[in-house]
Amino acid sequence: MKKFLALILAVAMIASVSMLAACSGSGDSKSGSGKDAKGDSSDKEKLTMATNAYFPPYEYYEGEDIVGIDVDVAKAIAEKLGMELEIVDIEFDSIIAGVQTGKYDMGMAGMTVTEERKQSVDFSDSYATGIQSIIVKEDSAITSIDDILADGAEYKIGVQLSTTGDIYITEDLGDAAASRVTEFQTGNDAVAALASGKVDAVIIDNEPAKSYVSAASGLKILDTEYVAEDYAICFSKDNTELKDKVNGALKELIADGTVQKIIDGYIKAE
Ligand code: ARG
Repeated sequence: MKKFLALILAVAMIASVSMLAACSGSGDSKSGSGKDAKGDSSDKEKLTMATNAYFPPYEYYEGEDIVGIDVDVAKAIAEKLGMELEIVDIEFDSIIAGVQTGKYDMGMAGMTVTEERKQSVDFSDSYATGIQSIIVKEDSAITSIDDILADGAEYKIGVQLSTTGDIYITEDLGDAAASRVTEFQTGNDAVAALASGKVDAVIIDNEPAKSYVSAASGLKILDTEYVAEDYAICFSKDNTELKDKVNGALKELIADGTVQKIIDGYIKAE
């Protein structure tokens, strides 16, 4: 009899443990949109944003704090949704994978919407635009993208790893890309390589380009544009509920002028 009771107890315990596991499993697969899944002690549900904070004026460090357009827009979204924003600074290259696996709720990093990325993640509406521009030394012979792509040209190009600047120039240069494109972990590193003569040009988004160039000396941005793009927030394809919520808040913030006001606070009209 005792043995029988013990057996029943054991079965009951296994059943409840596996039920618990099943519950927390489903919480996780919602990529932490439930506060219990993250062990959050505050009342508010957490909204985890993955970014790469070396991309002024969208995200950059001011002392210990990460600030910028994306941060302010994300804060406004979180406030509207009654959620608590948590920003995580990681390599740009790891953002999409981290969002896909549900480690982070969303990726916001001046991220360009591309057809290829749409295969892996869902995007919100676009909240800003960018242009891939070309930085060279002031006395450079390079005057446009055509000089870089010309037959027989040997100019070396620096980019931030896995950004659209990297993707486009690697595609355009084809076989020559292997020897001519150097991928750096941050835009800062790419620009430092340009300043020290290791590369002849850097291809990067126009606003970060402006702030890098004004912080350095002897560099300039070419007048010609390489590619125009839209920035948006990315989400796991499994988390359309969160995407819809965030996108709803974003739409309102665009409609009432909040997003434009935030952008204007960082980017002065020329
Ligand atoms: N717009 C470019 C892209 O999506 C570059 C973004 C880089 N962002 C960053 N926070 N480092 O590929």
